[in-house]
Amino acid sequence: MIDGYGRTIEYMRISITDRCNLRCRYCMPDGVDLVSMSDLLSFEEIEEICCAAAELGIKKIKITGGEPLVRRGCTALIGRIKQIPGIEEVTLTTNGILLAQQMSELCENGLDAVNISLDTLSRCNYEEITGKDKLESVLEGIQAAVKAGIRVKINSVLQKGQNDAEWGQLIGLAKDLPIDVRFIEMMPIGYGKQFETIYNEDIQKKIREIYPDLEEDTRVHGNGPATYYHIPGFKGSIGFISAIHGKFCDKCNRIRLTSQGMIKPCLCYGKSYNLKEILRDSGEKIGTEDMKRMLKQRLETAILEKPEQHCFEHLDDITEKKDMIQIGG
Ligand code: GTP
Ligand code: 5AD
Ligand code: SF4
Repeated sequence: MIDGYGRTIEYMRISITDRCNLRCRYCMPDGVDLVSMSDLLSFEEIEEICCAAAELGIKKIKITGGEPLVRRGCTALIGRIKQIPGIEEVTLTTNGILLAQQMSELCENGLDAVNISLDTLSRCNYEEITGKDKLESVLEGIQAAVKAGIRVKINSVLQKGQNDAEWGQLIGLAKDLPIDVRFIEMMPIGYGKQFETIYNEDIQKKIREIYPDLEEDTRVHGNGPATYYHIPGFKGSIGFISAIHGKFCDKCNRIRLTSQGMIKPCLCYGKSYNLKEILRDSGEKIGTEDMKRMLKQRLETAILEKPEQHCFEHLDDITEKKDMIQIGG
């Protein structure tokens, strides 16, 4: 479907849970208030929304959280979404801790690609940033994903004085393995507001000083806002998600479904559109044509009202402390 600014919307990010097995200091350092399971969309409800979205032209689905793999049945959900007519690709963004354990089941269910969050290769730094001593499990998860042969990307957020000196080690992962390493600028969302953003431009300059042959890589690597570069001799590429000064909103292709059933047409836009109330209070049953029509109608409204660009300046008015986990990044 085409939105009000001429952009084709074909990608939906779905947060399936607010919970996480880490406590990243810029995301959810003290955990989340437990949302009762009944407030979360059931997998049946998520599937119903995906069917309606697919009829509006959504082709690609990203499963996120919190940490999606902590919700039981995530792999089976991926398999079910994969079978919906019109859905071409289902990918996952995870912190990687449970990945090695679930990798073969994820592949059997048709997972197309995985993004793994990893800000540091130092065990001590990992524990300071995430609150947990789990670096080994993440590294095992990365190995398992590479071995399984699916596309793998690493997401790294740098923090001044904490892990910003580690960009060299992090890009080293792309030297030895066929994976992309991406730097995400810290966004002033939730706890992220308490951190200074390290600009990707500065990281790129430092990389170029060591690797003057860094060249733009124009191949399509995913469906997100990253730009990619390649270093001769490296198996993977280096990506940059420059959320703060990079203007990628004109190419935006996505909407977001929160774990509690709200459609957010933009990461930083106050207005959201309630699909849960249609699923639970409209009097219609899941699976009927009337239900699908109502869901499609609200999705259509959300897409048509999608704002032109994200605007972090007004975030104070519209987001809560823990918004990133509820929206799913
Ligand atoms: P692929 O390229 O297909 O792997 O997708 P992706 O980059 O969208 O996936 P991922 O879930 O790994 O997101 C990486 C980071 O990009 C997260 O921190 C997201 O919050 C951020 N991001 C994704 N979409 C947007 C967006 O529309 N606006 C902004 N500002 N940030 C985004
Ligand atoms: N700014 C930028 N990235 C963030 N993430 C979580 N919170 C923020 C923030 N405030 C990242 C995680 C993960 C990805 C999905 O989102 O590190 O890699
Ligand atoms: Fe969990 Fe990701 Fe948030 Fe870290 S950034 S606490 S891994 S949801």
